[in-house]
Amino acid sequence: MYNILKHAHSGIAYLLLLALVIALVYNIIGWAGNKAFTKGNKIAALIGFISSHLQLLLGLILYFVSPLGLSNLSGETMSDSMSRLYALEHPLTMIIAIVLITIGYSKSKRAEDDKSKYKKIVLFYAIGLILILSRIPWSVWPA
Ligand code: HEM
Ligand code: HEM
Repeated sequence: MYNILKHAHSGIAYLLLLALVIALVYNIIGWAGNKAFTKGNKIAALIGFISSHLQLLLGLILYFVSPLGLSNLSGETMSDSMSRLYALEHPLTMIIAIVLITIGYSKSKRAEDDKSKYKKIVLFYAIGLILILSRIPWSVWPA
């Protein structure tokens, strides 16, 4: 169970990073070129959005079954940067990033004009991506 979840969480991480970069590039091109917001732009953003929710669900379960998650959260482990990353900084930052991505997607969906549809996706996804990149355990991933 733990191993399957860990591999799935690692695999979805590739998908999510790729999806966010594609959604950003695609929407930045449309925004910069003053093009109409198409179904393709929306689907690109939706794939990033769904991947982030899937990763959130996997991460949350992993947090309770992994020896590096909640069970490793204590005063003593806070002085170890790797323990602190897995038990605290990674989960917290990733949740904030996914909340931002969700807000961006929802705001874009409700926006009236094409320009603000682009703007919501690009701004919120870009901040989300930066937060995600800042707290990936790069010393162990990609393996
Ligand atoms: C801990 C788990 C999850 C939480 C807390 C969560 C939370 C949310 C929230 C708050 C929304 C509403 C966003 C809005 O304002 O439109 C939403 C929508 C959605 N979520 Fe999740 N979600 C979770 C897991 C998942 C999973 C596992 C999937 C699928 C793989 C998923 C797919 C979707 C889809 C497709 C939508 C609607 C997208 C749309 O409006 O077009 N979510 N979720
Ligand atoms: C943007 C979303 C996220 C991304 C891109 C991401 C990415 C990753 C990556 C690349 C690893 C290393 C996997 C490996 O060693 O093969 C990892 C590990 C881990 N993640 Fe996430 N993660 C995300 C969200 C979350 C969330 C929301 C939680 C918990 C609430 C979480 C909990 C964990 C835990 C506990 C581990 C350590 C697993 C272990 O090695 O035992 N992650 N994550």
